[in-house]
Amino acid sequence: MPADITLLWALRSPCSFGCPHCYFGELEDHKEAPPVSPGMLSHIPVRDLDRTAMEAFARTLADSPVERIILAGGEPLDWLPTLSLIKTIKEAGCEVVVATNGVPLTRPGIARRLVELGVDGVSVSLDSADATTNDRLRPSRSGRVGHHEVLAGIRTLLSERGTGPGPRVGVYTVVIRDRPHEITEVAHLAREIGVDYYVPQPISLPPDHKLFAERCHNPSDVPAVADELRRLQQHPGRLTIPGPAYMRQFVASISTQDSGRVEDCFGGAQLFFIQPDGSVWDCPSDRRIAATPPQEHRSIVGADARILFADRPACTDCSHFSRDCVNMGPLVLGMPHLLAREAT
Ligand SMILES: C[S@@+](CC[C@H](N)C(=O)[O-])C[C@H]1O[C@@H](n2cnc3c(N)ncnc32)[C@H](O)[C@@H]1O
Repeated sequence: MPADITLLWALRSPCSFGCPHCYFGELEDHKEAPPVSPGMLSHIPVRDLDRTAMEAFARTLADSPVERIILAGGEPLDWLPTLSLIKTIKEAGCEVVVATNGVPLTRPGIARRLVELGVDGVSVSLDSADATTNDRLRPSRSGRVGHHEVLAGIRTLLSERGTGPGPRVGVYTVVIRDRPHEITEVAHLAREIGVDYYVPQPISLPPDHKLFAERCHNPSDVPAVADELRRLQQHPGRLTIPGPAYMRQFVASISTQDSGRVEDCFGGAQLFFIQPDGSVWDCPSDRRIAATPPQEHRSIVGADARILFADRPACTDCSHFSRDCVNMGPLVLGMPHLLAREAT
């Protein structure tokens, strides 16, 4: 069985940031009306699995077709059991990439432990080169941490790594319609502080989201975004960036209505999404989750990864394309390149 599966594992629901565009929705809204549909995410952790269930599943990863696990959330590094889970996953022979808001990296010992555990990549979110703008787009709940601490976290991790082999450290930027210039400005900042890889990604919101009109791109935004992506490709400097196919998909996704077909989708074949309650889906697209019949609902609870992922027919005609699909590319097909695991 080839080990070619990427699991995007949203480990925990809580996060110390309250980004209004977050896939997990807004805490305040969910306190009034908790989401109930399958696949809906929330920062309220009522159904989050305990560490015992997670560890039991992680121990079955050895000799399974899982190659890599992206630990996200919520915030994975605000929960200490994440570190022992990383140890179990690494011992099972899988690559580990941690997606973080960056602030936990400033806490004593966290960055050092990620280095010691042999974590392969750490992707830090930063949506603007300008501190005030970033902290407006990505507000922390306390209002006491933000851009400054995120950069401090990245620097701490780079310094703990020293000249060692890993982890590779990356920056992820959510690009919104009135700020195409962030594509090259965040790249410039990332380069300055010594980051290894950089991924700008289009914001993805459902059409009924209150920020859809303000933040989501429409076809009139294409020339400015395409120009910025071209400039980034021409002058990446020492940053590893996604390849030209990703840049074309980014532009294509904002050039059309937010729907369409994908001829060769890796969701359910090379990519699976795990929610904090342990539910397993072919990918995180809310459309594809909603289209999954109840008899195909699965969970990691009590499951063995060698059996859970044994049958995974390639999807040759997915009709649930969304901008989320663009954001999955660098996690699956593009990750060896970002982690410098293959010749560029
Ligand atoms: C949900 S966060 C979880 C990991 C971690 N707490 C963090 O802040 O990076 C993972 C990534 O998804 C991005 N993201 C969240 N909502 C998004 C949306 N609506 N469209 C595009 N990207 C989004 C975040 O900016 C972040 O880079």
